[in-house]
Amino acid sequence: MYIQLPGVTISYEDSGSRLPKELPTILFIHGYPLSRQMWKPQVRGLADSARLLTPDLRGFGESEATPGPYSMELLADDCFALLDRLGIGEPVIICGLSMGGYVAFSFYRKFPQRVQGLILAATRAGADSPEAKTNRDKAIALAKKEGAEAIARLMLPKMLSSRTLNTRPEIVEDVRSILLSASIPGITGALAGMRDRLDSSSLLAQISVPTLLIFGEADQFASKHEVESIRDLIPGASLHWIADAGHLPNFEQPEMFNTLVQGYLTAFFDNK
Ligand code: MLT
Repeated sequence: MYIQLPGVTISYEDSGSRLPKELPTILFIHGYPLSRQMWKPQVRGLADSARLLTPDLRGFGESEATPGPYSMELLADDCFALLDRLGIGEPVIICGLSMGGYVAFSFYRKFPQRVQGLILAATRAGADSPEAKTNRDKAIALAKKEGAEAIARLMLPKMLSSRTLNTRPEIVEDVRSILLSASIPGITGALAGMRDRLDSSSLLAQISVPTLLIFGEADQFASKHEVESIRDLIPGASLHWIADAGHLPNFEQPEMFNTLVQGYLTAFFDNK
């Protein structure tokens, strides 16, 4: 489905219409340079547990690719506008993976009253280091020169655990095709937005909604120490590591990921 938001047409899926109204809504925000297709295993596995909203962020999947940069605030504003256009005024659970987590932090900073819970997967709270900023600029240049294929070649080995890469070709191919669907304005716009994003570390202690943290044990993006400090700073947050998963635990180990989300819904939102 497509919806016109201020300044951009967004593509999204909404499993809501056939569900009882009292179930919570989960807004899933995908990572870079991915699309809502990365949430397919959740759309399948959690369909009876919550209303599931999965937008393609601008520049990704089937959404319009407006010129960048895409600040995390702009992407959070798009998510807010989507909820508004769909008439969802009550707070929702935000589930963000990696860049989706950066957007979730921004959403929480801007609209805390619209957040009922947070599921943060494979993400980081800090800003980019000077070295990481330089790497973003190099990736922007690469995308402009050689296109999404070069970015897919760069990212794929970092996204999945070596076990997934070596033994599960169907997952590797699914992720590759999602990576190849990213537009150049999407890739460069998101890279610039991530490069310039705010440090969310000081936000963590102010988070007052139930928070579930899910990470793959073989994630190359976040160190164990970084992840544990997110858990320690968010009051009451629980942290789960998923074995045999890298940066995409929801895609590499969907059953375990969905079980954790289901447990979280049952514990905090009385969802049986
Ligand atoms: C992502 O998966 O969204 C990105 O790899 C995050 C990042 O590059 O910081």
